[in-house]
Amino acid sequence: MRIAFAAAEVAPYAKVGGLADVAGSLPQALAALGHEVSVHLPLHRSIDRARFGIPDDGPSRSVPYGRARSRVSYPAIDREGVRTVFVRSDRRIGRDTVYGPVEVDAKRYGLFSRAVAEDLAASDRRPDVVHAHDWHSALLVSMVAGPYRRTLRGSATVFTIHNLAYQGKTSAEVLDLVGLPRRRVAVESRGELNPMARAIAAADVVSTVSDRYAREILTKEFGEGLEGLLARRRDDLYGIVNGIDVELFDPATDRHIAARYTAGDQSGKAACKAALQRELHLAVGERTPLFGVIGRLVEQKGIDILTPAAPEILATGAQVVVLGTGHPAYEATWRELAARFGGKLSLTLSFDAALAQRIYAGADLFLMPSRFEPCGLGQLISLRYGTIPVARAVGGLADTVRDAAADPRRGNGFSFREYTAAALVGAARRALAAYRHEAPWAALRERAMREDHSWAASATRYVEMYEAARASKRAA
Ligand code: GLC
Repeated sequence: MRIAFAAAEVAPYAKVGGLADVAGSLPQALAALGHEVSVHLPLHRSIDRARFGIPDDGPSRSVPYGRARSRVSYPAIDREGVRTVFVRSDRRIGRDTVYGPVEVDAKRYGLFSRAVAEDLAASDRRPDVVHAHDWHSALLVSMVAGPYRRTLRGSATVFTIHNLAYQGKTSAEVLDLVGLPRRRVAVESRGELNPMARAIAAADVVSTVSDRYAREILTKEFGEGLEGLLARRRDDLYGIVNGIDVELFDPATDRHIAARYTAGDQSGKAACKAALQRELHLAVGERTPLFGVIGRLVEQKGIDILTPAAPEILATGAQVVVLGTGHPAYEATWRELAARFGGKLSLTLSFDAALAQRIYAGADLFLMPSRFEPCGLGQLISLRYGTIPVARAVGGLADTVRDAAADPRRGNGFSFREYTAAALVGAARRALAAYRHEAPWAALRERAMREDHSWAASATRYVEMYEAARASKRAA
């Protein structure tokens, strides 16, 4: 199959969150299965062209934009069997950051979607499947179903929801700019455009990144107002859990960590822990339990229950290491906490991929108290490094973390249901009690490390879904 991806962020070129990891590793897994895969992303200013050998320019096209036209070029590179195309318009698409105010982004990504449609339509190798991700490339689905329905009639569309909380709602005037009809979908009010809703309504199939989240979004609690629309697409809605790049995240070969280790010989993990404690100015202690937290300090990630829980977790004698950026109010609160618990709590308010890997390797436990979590990658990476997740049982976390107290033979972590600080502290305490028993803890860690979270299984499920999308397109 010929598969064309479009996404706002793709690792390693541009990364804000988990979308980049997926868009940067699933295509390679599909290519390894023998498919021909391309990925379109905007040429953001932050992308280091020299480092990745991205040419200045590529083929160029004049893309309709409102009553005018816009010059767009398409520099491209090939890497690991995948063609990556950087959609370049310095004037209208390229910015310093991947995301900005939604009114600005709606136009940038609207033009991006149109430019991708133009590029695919002009190609002599038109895709069998167009696979758009999240609201930023959602209008590409509308393009294939609308103005490009003839030129791209052989292309089935797949829309993947990585996070339903961001829908790209903006003024319907954007539709005139990018050449799409004004006809509204049910959830849009007069004068409003909801790109994500349109893609959900128009795609041949819709998917999200875990089975549990696919069911959760049909409810009012998680549906973000789109539960009704999603329920109508229920028969075409898939949940496929994400994989991770097991070559990038591999404690046996990771060059960022102090010592290498494997499931069979975990001795290097203690060296990683000591090095991390030294690096972050924590008291060095082999038997002092160390919790890692990596992610945005925002409500989705459960920061509002983690904040009151942290002093209680620290009071048990454990250490906590936090890496991430977030809402200024939370950053301020966490700065105060870090000052109060010097030597026990370490706070790094930035994103640093190498330090993230040292935390995955050096921590004993990994906290993910998310309010909602479409899939979550942190728990999968931490399992791979033998770092035991303590997670709330929602979305992808519920699908991938099994409580070791409830299921001693198959458990790989600790989980809790209620969205409260008390429930989180309870799960952390259970984890700490288990941590004190060295032999069973080592066995738990080994089991976690031996789990397979590579893309192998999920990539095959994507291929099946693509076939279903093509069949439903043919039937229509
Ligand atoms: C979003 C979701 C996260 C998911 C990632 C990749 O960032 O919040 O749960 O793992 O997308 O699909």
